[in-house]
Amino acid sequence: MLINTERLELTNFKADYTEQFSKALNDPRIFLYLPENVPTSEEIQNIIKWFIERDKNNIKTGFKGTNLAIVLKENKDVIGWCGIQPFDPIPDKMEIFFGLAPVYWNKGYMTEAAKAVLKYGFELLNIAEIVAGVKPENIASVKVLEKVGLIFQKKLDKVPKDCEFYLGEHYYSITKTQYINKKV
Ligand SMILES: CC(C)(COP(=O)(O)OP(=O)(O)OC[C@H]1O[C@@H](n2cnc3c(N)ncnc32)[C@H](O)[C@@H]1OP(=O)(O)O)[C@@H](O)C(=O)NCCC(=O)NCCS
Repeated sequence: MLINTERLELTNFKADYTEQFSKALNDPRIFLYLPENVPTSEEIQNIIKWFIERDKNNIKTGFKGTNLAIVLKENKDVIGWCGIQPFDPIPDKMEIFFGLAPVYWNKGYMTEAAKAVLKYGFELLNIAEIVAGVKPENIASVKVLEKVGLIFQKKLDKVPKDCEFYLGEHYYSITKTQYINKKV
């Protein structure tokens, strides 16, 4: 799958991306508000294998989530990731998620990518509602979510035992109807 935006390509992960993706993720600032830490290259290899497997299964069994590589058209660099998958604390909801190498922050890239992810989710996958959880102090992420039309719903004050990381996060959502009416 390939989604084209003005400056980016969003594409399924390939084993070839391991080195570039490791380089992009090699910065603890990316993980400040995420449940993971900077991954080792072995962990990256394994996670990419898992992305590829999940994408194959999407074809066989129906969509269960995808994590797309963000490739900068101008230099073909893998600069981040974004996608849609079940939201861990409320797994019957589909979440939008994303991250970018810090050297590329604040250039509007994630807003551009996130708009394309919503279009994919609503127009191609026909998902009824897309949600997100974000630490309120993660201002850049809050801004991206709001710029693409997600709306604050509530603070997550109850989460399953194995999802305590998400406690206190701000929960955002946009329905397909809101998306159509807004067309961000
Ligand atoms: C969140 C993230 C993907 C944003 O990517 P990005 O390409 O820099 O986002 P954009 O440039 O499209 O938009 C960021 C917005 O936040 C604003 N911003 C960033 N830091 C800010 C700060 N400290 N205070 C106020 N505004 C800030 C930018 O000015 C921009 O808004 P604007 O377009 O109105 O000027 C990036 O910061 C990232 O990878 N963070 C680490 C991973 C992460 O936290 N993912 C989300 C988990 S919920």
